Amino acid sequence: MRSRRGFLGGAAAAGLAPAFWTHASAQARLAADPFRVGVASGEPLPDGVVLWTRLVTNPEALGAGMAPDRVEVRWEVAEDPALTRIVRKGDATARPEGGHAVHVEVEGLKPDREYWYRFTAGDHASAVGRTRTAPDPGADVQRLRIAYGSCQKWESGYYAAHRHLAADNPDLVLFLGDYIYEKAANPEEAIRLHPPTDAVDLATYRQRYAWYKADPDLQAAHAAAPWIVMWDDHEVSNDYGGDADRTPLTRDLFLKRRAAAYQAYWENMPLRRSSRPSGAKMPLYRALDWGRLARLAVVDDRQYRDGRTCDAVAEGKRIPYDCPERLAPKRSILGRDQERWLERRVSDTQARWNFLGQQTLMGELRVEDGRVSNDGWDGYPATRRRILETWRDASVANPIALGGDVHCFFAGDLALERGGRAIGTEFVGGSITSFGRPNKSLAGALLVNPHLKYAEGEKRGYGRVDITPKACTVTFRGVHNALDKASPVRDLAAFVVEDGRPGVKRA
Ligand SMILES: [Fe+2]
Repeated sequence: MRSRRGFLGGAAAAGLAPAFWTHASAQARLAADPFRVGVASGEPLPDGVVLWTRLVTNPEALGAGMAPDRVEVRWEVAEDPALTRIVRKGDATARPEGGHAVHVEVEGLKPDREYWYRFTAGDHASAVGRTRTAPDPGADVQRLRIAYGSCQKWESGYYAAHRHLAADNPDLVLFLGDYIYEKAANPEEAIRLHPPTDAVDLATYRQRYAWYKADPDLQAAHAAAPWIVMWDDHEVSNDYGGDADRTPLTRDLFLKRRAAAYQAYWENMPLRRSSRPSGAKMPLYRALDWGRLARLAVVDDRQYRDGRTCDAVAEGKRIPYDCPERLAPKRSILGRDQERWLERRVSDTQARWNFLGQQTLMGELRVEDGRVSNDGWDGYPATRRRILETWRDASVANPIALGGDVHCFFAGDLALERGGRAIGTEFVGGSITSFGRPNKSLAGALLVNPHLKYAEGEKRGYGRVDITPKACTVTFRGVHNALDKASPVRDLAAFVVEDGRPGVKRA
């Protein structure tokens, strides 16, 4: 039997023609489908997009079922879903040291149009994914639909939200963190179980991603549109910030763990080479333009933040509102370089709508006893103030923050002072599956935080953002029951921000 399985980069690297060279073990491994974790695309530009896959024959195994050999993979991009009008194609090498991930930066595409793509390796073909390019920078774009989500703890539910998100046919998916959770699952709270160990090194982080990505509804969401991804804490370790987390690891050991986690994140996301990690550093903040309609800046509030504050007087992560260290003007959740970068991105924009994708709730959230969390923006209020002042001073058109992390839906006004004029608007959450909070406690939070206009903690789901030159409509989409794979979805609430009028208003 003629087999085209298992082309080996090893043979190619040795200067041998690869076409008829196979390696017994790689061939045996590729007897199984290597596309078990699907395909993805991301980072759309007017002339190109990133295509991604990772060869995995067994998503549950440490090592993904792959032999430690290079595998040649082919990719194709077409103008039609049946892949009859191929416009770009090429080869890439999946390397064991890179987790057999493949990142292809396709160029030479036309702006503002749909494409379809797939990968093949040996006799196996991946699913076909749909993607699209961004419009030309000066284009007068009339509409953009972004679906955004976060917090998809695998063992806490099924990904019905992802199925509905894909069916909403977004131009872009924005994922704002907690793509995986690093902890061993608690069987008492789990409806499905991955291995009962924490992800702590490259092998176990890789395994965790493969385990999550084997889910067909998550694969459908990736295959539906290009994604823009940003991490939060659980891609590394709960509540980590900068060079420390809440475990007793020394700084050196924590940075080793962070390097492994960042490497696994890179391998599993449709990112450009410019985001590739080097040791424990990974440059991930970036901005994307959608013609003259929208700019989306996504910021990394984990890697560069100053250490937690007021820990000595904290109850868990809740700290007194008036703890003086919290208010120190130098404290930053983004780090100085990233703050400067963001200031430039929001000052030199021509876009009608200026989105800030970030991980959590940006506005203040006091709980009933007056405390705030030291893990989010309330632990770094000086950064929040600087961003709002920049929005105001640069007269930034229609700033809107999108966030995740809190496992609740929130809609709120962003103002410099309590009760002050709204400078921007924010829409947060919910979570795809991660457990939320009782609405009773959120009702109390709304009373003491009047800038927050809406909260819903009992439903899981995602946000849908429809942008035109005149208005931005945000719809919170909630699944009926995240423990049911087939759960229906409904609109929980919808809000509209009209051009030039910041602040939450019901649609
Ligand atoms: Fe989360």
